[in-house]
Amino acid sequence: MRAMAVDVKSLIQEGAALTERALEELLPSLETVPASIHGAMRHSTFAGGKRLRPVLAYQAAVTIAGALPAGIERLGAALEMLHTYSLIHDDLPALDNDDLRRGKPTCHVAFGEAIAILAGDALQTRAFEVLAGLDSSPAATVQIIALIANAVGTVEGMIGGQVLDLESEHLKPTPELVNSIHRAKTGALIRVSVVAGGVYAGATADDAASLDLFGRKAGLAFQIMDDVLDLTEDSAHLGKTAGKDQATEKATWPAVYGIEQSQRDAARLIEEAFAALEPYGSRADGLKAVARYLVERKN
Ligand code: IPE
Ligand code: IPE
Ligand code: MG
Ligand code: MG
Ligand code: MG
Repeated sequence: MRAMAVDVKSLIQEGAALTERALEELLPSLETVPASIHGAMRHSTFAGGKRLRPVLAYQAAVTIAGALPAGIERLGAALEMLHTYSLIHDDLPALDNDDLRRGKPTCHVAFGEAIAILAGDALQTRAFEVLAGLDSSPAATVQIIALIANAVGTVEGMIGGQVLDLESEHLKPTPELVNSIHRAKTGALIRVSVVAGGVYAGATADDAASLDLFGRKAGLAFQIMDDVLDLTEDSAHLGKTAGKDQATEKATWPAVYGIEQSQRDAARLIEEAFAALEPYGSRADGLKAVARYLVERKN
């Protein structure tokens, strides 16, 4: 049977709009005291991110349940809050020292460093508060919280990856080093977005293992392409400063393998990732289409 072509643009647009509405509802208003931090949280959250982690969670849920489960947009919003927190801190002078993000001045440029640090912290705590109130069963909710906390943490998680990334600046990048940085700093949150979406939709342990395998490969491919785009696109197009990685001697995939091999590696990882979705047949078409977009995107 021929798979129906998926309109990935609409899929992403609809998923992003769903997430946008949930974020609007779940983040404290601009008038809520203390207003400065709520302004900072909203500035970075509503700056036009692609919302790819929520969309991956939604399509993983469709893969498991056949349809979008009610209330999943709050899981998507929490994932996006955590991602935005990681970006605010990533841009700080003590980390990557960037002044442009999502086409706008970075949080610390607009609100000062102290409020930017606190806005990142606050997006993280609000995310876990939102997760605690999900409509999933208590067991699934606890599982989702534990998985996400672990993926954001220091052991092969986002924060651990950021530490490795910073400590590897100016070192000669090796395949092993770049692999461990990328799997942790970016791969972990992408992987857990897929798994958490599945668990929200009632995934069994076997389902979760399949989604984990898929998410692992897709997450690595995503960061490889982030490194490639830093070299091949301009700042206006990316909405963040292009060419930064070479200037700061970051340990990137292209620094080890070159641009063309990096593009091939990302495409190959996505094809490999698809194997994990075989048991789900056409129910995984949306998830596959979004994964393909991760490596074909231009920003
Ligand atoms: C950029 O992520 C930062 C990385 C983890 C590589 P995205 O490319 O998903 O950024 P937004 O959310 O669309 O701004
Ligand atoms: C960012 O990696 C990873 C996290 C935010 C956790 P990068 O430093 O490569 O992301 P960009 O290129 O600034 O978006
Ligand atoms: Mg960084
Ligand atoms: Mg950065
Ligand atoms: Mg980058």
